[in-house]
Amino acid sequence: MYIETYGCQMNLADSELVMGILKKQGYEITNEIDKANVILLNTCSVREHAEEKIFHRLDHLKRFKRNNPTTVIGILGCMAERLRKNLIEEKKIVDVVVGPDEYRRLPEYLELAFGGEKGIGVKLSRTETYEDIEPYREDGISAWIAVMRGCDKFCSFCVVPFTRGRERSRSLLSVVKEVEKLSERGFKEVTLLGQNVNSYNDNGKDFADLLAAVASVDRNIRVRFTTSHPQDMSDKLLHTIAEHNNICNYIHLPVQSGSNRILELMNRSYTIEHYLNLIEKARKIIPGVSFSTDIIAGFPTETEEDHQMTLDVMKEIRYDGAYMFKYSPREGTKAYNMKDDVPEEIKIRRLNEIIELQQKISFEINQQLIGSEEVILVEGTSKKSDQFLSGRTDTNKVVIIPKKDNINIGDYVKVRIIRATSATLFGEVN
Ligand code: SAH
Ligand code: SF4
Ligand code: F3S
Repeated sequence: MYIETYGCQMNLADSELVMGILKKQGYEITNEIDKANVILLNTCSVREHAEEKIFHRLDHLKRFKRNNPTTVIGILGCMAERLRKNLIEEKKIVDVVVGPDEYRRLPEYLELAFGGEKGIGVKLSRTETYEDIEPYREDGISAWIAVMRGCDKFCSFCVVPFTRGRERSRSLLSVVKEVEKLSERGFKEVTLLGQNVNSYNDNGKDFADLLAAVASVDRNIRVRFTTSHPQDMSDKLLHTIAEHNNICNYIHLPVQSGSNRILELMNRSYTIEHYLNLIEKARKIIPGVSFSTDIIAGFPTETEEDHQMTLDVMKEIRYDGAYMFKYSPREGTKAYNMKDDVPEEIKIRRLNEIIELQQKISFEINQQLIGSEEVILVEGTSKKSDQFLSGRTDTNKVVIIPKKDNINIGDYVKVRIIRATSATLFGEVN
């Protein structure tokens, strides 16, 4: 079997789960699509563009299927959940459609498909967490661990509560056990995943308890987490991050907009004042903490004034990084019923202003790091040159350093920053 993964980190974790399930059934995993009898696409629905990408991929696979008619093609993930039987009806090459809560049954559906029968499994579950299933992971440095599934927030623009169902948490013990195994295998970093990790709840044990327990497994393992919803972030969590050296001083805290009127229409359930307070508090409790965010440009009814408020908030907070998007109406969401009334060219202009501002801020922040010393975890060879290694700081900044014989992937190395762009730091090792 061969699998391609699109969308968020949750999908990356789910693909490892799916590989774990299929491997147990005797399937062999391959990176070469030509060798596979099963091709799976784990898909994303978050914006229209994400879905278009999959449709293009399917058009491309049409030729492949013509030459290899016995190959089974399956769609997993959020598009499977959202489009269901339409996928099979509209895209004749699709044999199997399985949503995020039905992966246990994937082997059954594949068996049917080998017999020529199409299959759809898209029931959502209130309890499925797959915590008893061991994901398939190649040896490496970093691992994703989904500690929750689903989302109950229902932000008005967002399709995720519909594609992933109600929120549910894995047990703390099962997460700790997984981290213990990763530690034995030599992993150096884990990222705990959930759509809103701050509402993690295992019989009263909250996300701060989980983080503390995970961080205590192996002090040589860095612990990261995403995503935090600004409404649910507790003081206890901030103190926990500060108390544990190996919990990274980095928080992804999506703001979405700087305008209270728009935040309310988005059903984000916090005000900008609350958000700014939270950032201020976090900076006090966790000195040197870095922040990234998500921003949507051109939500229905957004005026120039609202847009300016977003730019102002960015200037005030000075995020280390941001993921910035143009609003994309999603069928079934509450915002879909509002008129998508910001013209495309204005959305594009506002998005570009947001991107330019963030690049300027990131560049300035990174320039100030020149001359400073940072500890990085070496994660691999630089994408651009095999003469260089790539690692990240505690605050999630990518640092490129020259290769040296005594530096190995997985090492923590002290580096001095000598150069910086808006996206990358360059360091030397003494
Ligand atoms: N649970 C996470 C991730 C949600 S999806 C969170 O709450 O942050 C990641 C980001 O995609 C969101 O934060 C939002 O900025 C963006 N997004 C979601 N739906 C969107 C839409 N319909 N149009 C544009 N951007 C969207
Ligand atoms: Fe979507 Fe909001 Fe849930 Fe994030 S918190 S997944 S944006 S509904
Ligand atoms: Fe996309 Fe689903 Fe993740 S919509 S962003 S793959 S939760």
